[in-house]
Amino acid sequence: MIEDQVEILRDELHYHEHKYYVENQPEISDVEFDTLMKELEKLEKKDPSLITPDSPTQRVGGQVVLGERIRHHESMLSLENTYTAEELHDFDRRIRKTLLDQDIEYVIELKIDGLGVALNYEEGSLSYGLTRGDGNFGEDVTANIRTIKSIPLKLKELSRLPTPNMLEVRGEVFIPKSQLGKINEHRVKTGESPFSNTRNAAAGSLRLLDPNIVAQRPLDIFVYRLSYGLDLETHEQGLKMLVDLGFKVNEMVNVYHSMEEVIECYYKWREQYKNLDYDTDGIVVKVNDIKHQAQLGVRAKSPRWAICCKFPASQARTRINHIAIQVGRTGVLTPVATLEPIELAGARIENATLHNAQEIARKDIRVGDWVVLERSGDVIPKVVSVLTEKRSGSEEIFRFPNTCPSCYEQVQSSEQETAIRCVNVSCPDQLKRRIEHFTSRNALDIEGLGKQIVNQLIEANLVSNIADLYRLQTNDLLPLEGFGDRSAQNLISAIDSSKKKPASRVLFGFGIFHVGQRAADLLIDHFVSIDAIAEAEVEQIEIIQGIGSKTAESVANFFSQAENKVLLEKLKSAGLQIQAKALFDLSQIAKEFLGKTFVLTGTLTTLTRSAASERIKLLGGKVNSNISKKTDFVVVGENAGSKKNQALALGTQILTEDDFLEMINSV
Ligand code: IVH
Repeated sequence: MIEDQVEILRDELHYHEHKYYVENQPEISDVEFDTLMKELEKLEKKDPSLITPDSPTQRVGGQVVLGERIRHHESMLSLENTYTAEELHDFDRRIRKTLLDQDIEYVIELKIDGLGVALNYEEGSLSYGLTRGDGNFGEDVTANIRTIKSIPLKLKELSRLPTPNMLEVRGEVFIPKSQLGKINEHRVKTGESPFSNTRNAAAGSLRLLDPNIVAQRPLDIFVYRLSYGLDLETHEQGLKMLVDLGFKVNEMVNVYHSMEEVIECYYKWREQYKNLDYDTDGIVVKVNDIKHQAQLGVRAKSPRWAICCKFPASQARTRINHIAIQVGRTGVLTPVATLEPIELAGARIENATLHNAQEIARKDIRVGDWVVLERSGDVIPKVVSVLTEKRSGSEEIFRFPNTCPSCYEQVQSSEQETAIRCVNVSCPDQLKRRIEHFTSRNALDIEGLGKQIVNQLIEANLVSNIADLYRLQTNDLLPLEGFGDRSAQNLISAIDSSKKKPASRVLFGFGIFHVGQRAADLLIDHFVSIDAIAEAEVEQIEIIQGIGSKTAESVANFFSQAENKVLLEKLKSAGLQIQAKALFDLSQIAKEFLGKTFVLTGTLTTLTRSAASERIKLLGGKVNSNISKKTDFVVVGENAGSKKNQALALGTQILTEDDFLEMINSV
């Protein structure tokens, strides 16, 4: 039977992929592997109804739908950073204070410097993969994730347990250090700028639009957490389970009972991490017992039961060629050193922030000076000290300008703060930065509205405030360089769809001093609408837990300015969301979907399965993976297999992709 043959070939190919890409111990040659793969392809071509998404032939081919957001099963948190043994002892003391006399075990792992991803498996097959996104909603990168050969498309069966219906794992996608040179050589040849480090290379690759190109990038993964689907007693048990399920887990894992041992391990890695073929920037210390983890709990952005201890920053020496002034979105003037380009911790460095005038004076930094630079992780490099012994006498003392380099208005300094500001509300550079911030990923996330286009829009006098973006029409864009019918239309529709973004993003997008994403969330949670925030007094704002008095003052001050109130009104009339959505948005619920059960099968061509599921759920329906008598609709994509037959047998209503789209769109 052809079905059996296909099954056997798939099992064999899964097995050998695992041996090669996960265990690094191939048992057959590449040629033998390719022969098996060709055989499977031949059989699948003969009977395409046998193709399943978890077939080894189906790694490349899906559609990339960047911008699609899906909620994580559990928030993707960050780790608190520490740098010294003393801070690790503090962590240990805090843990022991909460857990009292209980015996504590710590698991030590390496912190891989790549891109965090969440992989979701339904019924044992990879269903979708997300980036971290804003921590709550990740970006759908399924089609690209599938091309990474060390990620199993199908889970191995556990001998002790049934495969869970839903399983989510977390891991770090990276590019080996030894491969960066090759990738960059190719990029330079094709006129692209080289990636400055392996992390950017990994992140850039996962965001590519063509999975065929992604498949050629040497992306790899280390999985470090089983975040949903199986009950665990310890983290270590989770890691073992991940190995059994077929995942690649970093082997450098140790379990210790005392902080002394942890610190010894940290010192060992500090000496040795550079010899590994992947970038790491520290160790992660995790409390092993899951019950203990629950007792310790999490903060807003990081768990209390884990911590990262970073390796010391790398240093390098270079010369300051020039000092430029950048104008930020709040008008703050920041001096930035233009450096003689240099390689530091795997990155090419050309600029370093000098923070402010006091900092320049305190360190006596002059144009032409040789300086020591430091960089740790992703942090912008900073100037640690000046090598005064290298001075020739031709170095020039930097004079902070009295006027703004963008609008030439007089700048202001105040006694209370170190910053020197341009207070001209129509300063072009400030406006550029404000719009860049408003359109950025964590704010309104308007795809395609990058720095250069913002520049063009401002220079052509098409926008002079954020709200003007929503008055743009395709015809306004056509005369601008680089725009055609299609790109102009795309940008307008991207701007248009940003109107659906939640109010907290709009508030964050205003770029109010001290109001980050978390503060914006807290403010909206408390006041429900931006209108109410705009009316609030400092005292009413600062009672919110998690909002300090500086933030409260800054918010009140922002909305006390008439032009900001006008801006809010304009955004409101443009149709942006300024009110928090109810948890269950009744306006979105549709009769046709409410309480109805859907099963999706086969490949949908215009949207991913997970996007389709999200839409159904949003409209009040349910999505199941198996057909039963209770199923109301089966949506049948291309190459649908046995489920279609089951639906026919049960008499369940079948929808083609077109029917389904029509149903969604008519709501
Ligand atoms: S644990 C709730 N373990 O570092 C636990 N993270 O700053 C949080 N990372 O988003 C993560 N290697 O992308 C953990 N062995 C490791 C890691 C690791 C790299 C990344 C991950 C996470 C970020 C936290």
